[in-house]
Amino acid sequence: MSVGFLGLVGQGILTAHSARGLQGAERSRLLTQHALWQVAGLALVAIAIWAVYQSKEIRGTPHFTNLHSWTGLATLALATLTPIGGALAFGKTGLLQLFPKGLQPVVKTAHRNAGVVTILVATAAMELGLAMPTAYQGALSRWMQVIIGIVAALIAYRAWCSDPEAQRSKAQ
Ligand code: HEM
Repeated sequence: MSVGFLGLVGQGILTAHSARGLQGAERSRLLTQHALWQVAGLALVAIAIWAVYQSKEIRGTPHFTNLHSWTGLATLALATLTPIGGALAFGKTGLLQLFPKGLQPVVKTAHRNAGVVTILVATAAMELGLAMPTAYQGALSRWMQVIIGIVAALIAYRAWCSDPEAQRSKAQ
């Protein structure tokens, strides 16, 4: 599930990233794809948290007692708020026009940064979950932690430190 979440949200972030600097129908198509990837990722994380919550209810064990469960809850909160920011930032929804012109870039930047923070908090939840005594599988867990860490760092690096618009104009 974690890997699915990272895969879907990561793919979604890279799709939005490739829309930077584009205009018109192509940008709108890529951002619509981005929104769909992200909603699918959010659905996965919500199902997983619901399943774990139900299983704890059945076993009568207490909820939210460790760092993994708190970061998981923070992931759910961010993965709910960030798409709302995305809907505000997306010209196609018409909501961006509700903000004064000067504030519109701020709404977009806030969504972009919230998106990267969401994936980083989700990654922390995955890393902590893999180390939990009930999930730990020795070397397999360690390798999964390393791979998840590298994938998340690459996505965050791409979103925060690379500029496809500048690369495109250099190539022309
Ligand atoms: C958990 C859900 C989401 C995450 C983690 C997320 C993350 C991101 C990130 C990291 C970027 C910046 C990519 C880059 O330029 O490098 C971005 C851009 C964008 N996202 Fe999302 N997003 C989410 C949901 C949504 C949804 C549901 C929508 C639309 C309904 C949306 C609309 C947009 C738009 C319009 C941009 C471009 C903003 C701009 O012009 O700079 N996002 N998103």
